[in-house]
Amino acid sequence: MTSSYGIEGHGLDGRAAVVTGGTRGIGRAVAERLAGAGVLVCVTARDAEEVRRAAEELGGVGLAGDVGDPDHPRAVTELALRAFGRIDVVVNNAATNQPYGPLMEADPGAWRRAFQVNVEAPLRLVQCAWRAWLREHGGSVVNICTEGAGHAGPNVGAYGTSKAALLHLTRQLAGELAPKVRVNSVSPGLVRTEMARFVWEPGERQLAAGLPLGRIGEPDDVARAVVWLASDAAGWITGADLLVDGGTGVRTAYPGPGYAVDDRLRSYAPPRS
Ligand SMILES: NC(=O)c1ccc[n+]([C@@H]2O[C@H](COP(=O)([O-])OP(=O)(O)OC[C@H]3O[C@@H](n4cnc5c(N)ncnc54)[C@H](OP(=O)(O)O)[C@@H]3O)[C@@H](O)[C@H]2O)c1
Repeated sequence: MTSSYGIEGHGLDGRAAVVTGGTRGIGRAVAERLAGAGVLVCVTARDAEEVRRAAEELGGVGLAGDVGDPDHPRAVTELALRAFGRIDVVVNNAATNQPYGPLMEADPGAWRRAFQVNVEAPLRLVQCAWRAWLREHGGSVVNICTEGAGHAGPNVGAYGTSKAALLHLTRQLAGELAPKVRVNSVSPGLVRTEMARFVWEPGERQLAAGLPLGRIGEPDDVARAVVWLASDAAGWITGADLLVDGGTGVRTAYPGPGYAVDDRLRSYAPPRS
């Protein structure tokens, strides 16, 4: 199948993928693009009704659960294999941006949870998929990191540190699993999703003006990059991180107004849970 971008026919038709956090935002856009390319898709998320709905709309299957639950990756792998008989693509997308705040105040349990969800869960899912299918048949893994992992930022220390660990995990796995399995990451800048709503909603026009490409990202901007990396079009790429950030990383050379994301992060007070 060929889309208007002409990228999705690169050998993906008839393959199978697992996309964690595939019910909304970036994960949903990835799942839609994969399904549009003829891929059999298994999505996960915690909200069971959303999982059921997404799986139905995508013509795939889904499993409700928390990626941080040690049994979840095995259950997802078993479901995908049972339903499709194969797992060619793993997209580790589900994540948490908690605990929010200065690291000196970070609760140890919440800190561990950030690493459990953002680092350990991707590894465990790749381990399960490797043993069940990838080791013998090959495939590709795409981890969703963040542009922010490359620098420090106000109140996002746990998120940034865990995503930086995921970047390293990506490179380590790329070396260990080659040549059969390619492992890459995509690092988005600010994207219009629920997770980042507290950053973009209070003044999107001002934020966009500070970006070289003049707008914040849409989930599909990221999805197209993920699908390309997962496909045979990227067949000689492994251990790479693809920035999809509208130029966020080069903004200091951009002659527009300053970028207001750090001000938002500094002033945001999360609701008490
Ligand atoms: N949006 C941005 O600006 C931005 C920027 C850089 C990187 N990213 C990265 O992009 C990825 C997707 O984020 P997003 O912005 O699309 O977020 P989102 O719109 O909030 O969607 C998150 C998805 O993950 C699921 N999820 C969350 N926690 C989970 C858990 N513990 N177990 C299983 N599923 C879970 C959610 O469903 P349930 O709530 O039902 O579980 C939902 O399907 C993340 O890795 C994030 O770090 C986002």
